[in-house]
Amino acid sequence: MKILGICGSPRKGGNSEILLDEFLRYFEGRFEVKKIFINSLKFIPCQECENIRKDGRCKINDDMQNVYDEVESSDIVVVASPIFFGSVSAQLKMLIDRFQCQWLGVKIFKTYNPKEKKGIFICIEATERDDFIDNAKSIVKNFFKTINATYFGEIICKGVDEKGKVKEKKECFEKLKEIIKKIGVKDE
Ligand SMILES: Cc1cc2nc3c(=O)[nH]c(=O)nc-3n(C[C@H](O)[C@H](O)[C@H](O)COP(=O)(O)O)c2cc1C
Repeated sequence: MKILGICGSPRKGGNSEILLDEFLRYFEGRFEVKKIFINSLKFIPCQECENIRKDGRCKINDDMQNVYDEVESSDIVVVASPIFFGSVSAQLKMLIDRFQCQWLGVKIFKTYNPKEKKGIFICIEATERDDFIDNAKSIVKNFFKTINATYFGEIICKGVDEKGKVKEKKECFEKLKEIIKKIGVKDE
């Protein structure tokens, strides 16, 4: 089994990454675990190319090519993002937009059939606004549909701003453990 963590925060060791790492730690050493820190990648936003490939793969040759491979070969994809101006971070949105060719391959051309996965969303915000969380969730749910991942679980942490503050939110770590338990994995 392969677990992929995607961190949408630019802040190394920030709240999103802390929770994501805690999640991945459970699987490390027993399963294949990979992590993508989007802010460290070199890629451009979607260019709405005219002559696109019809096989679900974007033709732009940058770091996203590796992201496509990592996502497709995973069984569990965990996406972590802070709320930035009422939505997911720009880093995460830029990555998701680059899945447009995959969306077309799946929904329109029906040339691409990604394998089934589980999707988990970790989201952090400083305020307590449900509308911001709902915005982020709807974007991530659409992404999960595109990569054929069921929306398996979520860890929503509100009222967390300062770097590392999430460590004080016991309920977020409890929720994380609950999801891990629900996955019900046996050691490989
Ligand atoms: C550019 C920017 C925009 C933000 N916009 C919001 C916002 O709209 N609502 C909110 O509750 N928090 C907002 N925040 C606060 C972050 O969501 C919060 O600090 C979070 O804990 C950061 O997570 P991280 O440490 O994983 O980056 C914003 C922070 C930044 C840097």
